[in-house]
Formats: sequence, C-alpha cells, structure tokens
Amino acid sequence: MSSLLDSVSFANGTSMPNRLMLAPLTNQQSHPDGTLSDEEHHWLTMRAKGGFGLTMTCAAQVHPLGQGFAGQLACSGDEHSAGLSRLARDIKKEKSLAIAQLHHAGTKSPAEIIGSAPLCPSPDSSTGAREMTNNEVYEVINAFVDAAVRCEKAGFEGVELHGAHGYLIGQFLSPEINQRTDEFGGSLDNRAGFLLAIIDGIRRDCRSSLNLSVRLSPERFGLKTSEMLELYGWLVDSKKIDFIDMSMWDIRKDAVDEEFAGKTLMELFAGVPRDMTRLGVAGKIYSAADAQWAVDNGADFAIIGRAAIAHHDFARLAGADPEFTMRPMPIHPDDLRAEGLSDGFIEYMRVFKGFVAEA
Ligand SMILES: Cc1cc2nc3c(=O)[nH]c(=O)nc-3n(C[C@H](O)[C@H](O)[C@H](O)COP(=O)(O)O)c2cc1C
Repeated sequence: MSSLLDSVSFANGTSMPNRLMLAPLTNQQSHPDGTLSDEEHHWLTMRAKGGFGLTMTCAAQVHPLGQGFAGQLACSGDEHSAGLSRLARDIKKEKSLAIAQLHHAGTKSPAEIIGSAPLCPSPDSSTGAREMTNNEVYEVINAFVDAAVRCEKAGFEGVELHGAHGYLIGQFLSPEINQRTDEFGGSLDNRAGFLLAIIDGIRRDCRSSLNLSVRLSPERFGLKTSEMLELYGWLVDSKKIDFIDMSMWDIRKDAVDEEFAGKTLMELFAGVPRDMTRLGVAGKIYSAADAQWAVDNGADFAIIGRAAIAHHDFARLAGADPEFTMRPMPIHPDDLRAEGLSDGFIEYMRVFKGFVAEA
C-alpha cells in the first residue's frame, strides 16, 4: 500500500513530495484589481509551510469578463505578475509544487462585478447571460493560454484548468447548457473543443515541463457522467495532461446518473486505465484515514479543502499520525484567525453552513 508520505512524479518532469494537495480555495482576499494581497500570500504560504506537497491557488480569473467573485485573484494582465511571482517563489521555497488554477466563470460572473451581461456558450435567461460570438470563444481560449504563459513566467510550476462546478469550461461541456451550432457545440467532441484548444495552446506556448492539469466534475451541472468518463479517457490518451483533479464533493459517494446506479464515483474514475496521467480526488477528506482511503482506492493523491482551512499543517499532521482527524466543526473564528484566515475570509466561510461558529 502506498503511504501518504510517498512522492508522486508527473509525466512532464515535476513531482510532489507527498500525496497531499491543497485544494483550490476561493478566499476573496485579493485586491479589487485582482492583485495579490498580503493576506492571500500569508494564507497560502502558510499551507505550503504546513507540508502540502502541492499548493494550488484559488480559482484565478483569466479575463475581467470572467470574474466570478469579489476579491478574486487574477492572472489576466501584466499588472498581476509581481504578486504572482512573489507567491510562486514563496510556495516553492517550502518545497511545495506551486500551481495556479485558471478560471473563467462564464454565466456565473455576477453582472454587478463585471459591469455587463455575463458570457455563456448559449443565452441563459436565469442570469441574463448572452451567447459568446465565435470570435469571443477564440478570444477567451487565448486569454487562458496567455494567463498560463504569465503564470509560468511568474515562476509557477504548473497551471490547472478549472473545468468543474459549472463554470465556463463546464458550460461548454454541458449538453444542457451548450446549444451552439458552431464548431464548439453539438457532439461531445465539439463541446470539449473549447477545453482541448486551451490545452493545445498551453502545450504550444509554454515549456514542455509545465505541469498541466484539468479539474472536472463527474456529474451534475448539466453534465453526463458517461461523457465525463469518455473525456477523462481522451485526456489520458492525449498524454498532454499531468493529472486530472476529480471534484467529487464526497469521495465515497455513489454516482447520481441512473446509468451508473450502485457504483461509486471512485470506482468509475479510478477504474479507467491512466498510464502516466495521475489522479487526485477531492471531497470530505477530513482525516489521515480518509486521505489513505482515497489512495488505497485508486487515487494517486488526496486533495484537501475544508480540513486545510481548519489546519494550515493538515498535511504534516496527517503524514505523521494515521489517527489524525480535523478539529470538529463549527470552528471558532479565533481558531480560524490563528490558522491564517483574514476576517473577510472567515465571513466568506459562513456561506459553507456549519463551518464557522458564532463568535
Ligand atoms: C471556501 C471554498 C472555496 C472553494 N473554492 C474553489 C475554487 O476556487 N476552485 C475550485 O475548483 N474549487 C473550489 N472549492 C472546492 C474545493 O476545492 C474542494 O473540492 C471542496 O471543498 C471539497 O473538498 P473538502 O470536502 O475537503 O472541502 C472551494 C471550496 C470551499 C469550501
């Protein structure tokens, strides 16, 4: 059996020193123009110091029209580079692999933040989003590629494409949301074309050793699990991706789609042969035993979200003690402050019911 303290090597040359990754976690601590704040630097470098083998940024916007949250980190312009460089340098100093998550919220971009109607593959009356023109689709593909180049130049060792949770890449993948009639709509091949064009652009313009990963949702958000399995196989076969990050929200759960009744998401996705492409899984990994379960059940590494908010050094504690379990929720704001969260981030965490205790 693999230990949580084993290193993981990736196809393109990078590696992480253990099997515990910090999940991408939106924290709303950036400056209004998307530049890095000291609070965000502190919160993330504290996790790298806490032993995570891979420290991923929050979803970082690649285009101002794709901003998804107030206080979101950005990598859309050269004005963001100085902060990104400082962040990458200080994560790497701790021997943690530094990866930036690239994001465009599409129809989920709040109009009051972006100052216009949000963009979507197809019109969306629920948000007032308008359909992207064919030119705009190519513009956003280029924005993802440019953002990857900017992060690489800033010193990040990799980038992850946020294709999960119903944001723009997921909106293109969805047969429910994407009703386009151009080359980006119709068959799964076409709907995945947006993601695959971004991957090709990054592999064309960045150094070959850049760690490139994709985060996917296995179900919901207008997706079909059978199609996500097919796409997963294509990504493996392409040999262009270092790892796939499956955002399951609960690594032990059964698939929702009736076609896969009685099967767990882990069985489905960890069961696909993947050669050198690695698999990370996220969802309710709250203890060393949960992380070990993920690895024992076929993942290459465990991705830690809320438990890493609760303990900056979850990776070190779980690596040292197989019995280690996250402190009980709700968590007192003073404890979260001691773990490096600003008051703004603590307020945001109240969205996640039952996480923050009343002061
Ligand atoms: C506060 C918070 C912010 C999140 N932000 C992001 C994000 O920026 N990008 C992303 O892909 N997922 C995001 N997620 C999902 C997490 O990465 C993770 O997959 C999820 O929390 C499940 O893991 P957990 O049960 O260990 O928390 C967020 C989750 C939380 C709780």
